[in-house]
Amino acid sequence: MATPHNEAKMGDYAETVLLPGDPLRAKYIAETFLEDVVQVNGVRGALGFTGKYKGHRISVQGSGMGIPSMSIYINELVKEYGVKTIMRVGSFGGMAPELKLGDVVLASGGSTDSSVIANTFGPGIYYSTLPDFGLLDTAYHTAKDLDIPVTVGNIFAADRFYNDEIDMQKLTNYGILGTEMEVAGLYLLGAKLNIKTLDILTCSDHVFRGEALSSEERQNSFANMMKVALETAVK
Ligand code: ADE
Repeated sequence: MATPHNEAKMGDYAETVLLPGDPLRAKYIAETFLEDVVQVNGVRGALGFTGKYKGHRISVQGSGMGIPSMSIYINELVKEYGVKTIMRVGSFGGMAPELKLGDVVLASGGSTDSSVIANTFGPGIYYSTLPDFGLLDTAYHTAKDLDIPVTVGNIFAADRFYNDEIDMQKLTNYGILGTEMEVAGLYLLGAKLNIKTLDILTCSDHVFRGEALSSEERQNSFANMMKVALETAVK
């Protein structure tokens, strides 16, 4: 059934969806990596596509930025369109000193200052948001087989892109590899909706060193993350 945010019909989405934040990246992924592509959503410019990768049906949907926007699309993909596996393919700001621009990270945990955890469990509960272990394991070994170096660890989903209040150095001292704005919401919904989720990320900037990929470099460095995500999706 169509929703206020999605005009697709039941069956338009594959069971596995790749979820970039940027709708134009969803278009680029569909056009570059998939065959027999059909656009299934265009409401609010949140582009969604379904196509085939090595003969397997796969969809790609732009989620917008941050947990609130992403959660709308995930809820509807699962409840209205029967989606079973969602892999976010996004960018993050590196915080660990060893991370370089273009590095790929698999988020084995999501930390956050977002209110979604307290809104779900009430005050005083610090729920650990985790990916599906099978998906993480497959992605890790897929990357090894493809000779693509990956780092696995804890990612911080910030509620605000611009914030001066959070002690990012302290988070790094406690093992946080980097920051984006979605991982904890993705994994929380994975648990709530009983689907498989994984956050696969490319380092687009470094929080402490002030480095950033140009938009052209972003496109190229993105290829490794996409190979890992697509090959994992068809295993
Ligand atoms: N996504 C990519 N880089 C980021 C950063 N530095 N902070 C939050 N989200 C990001």
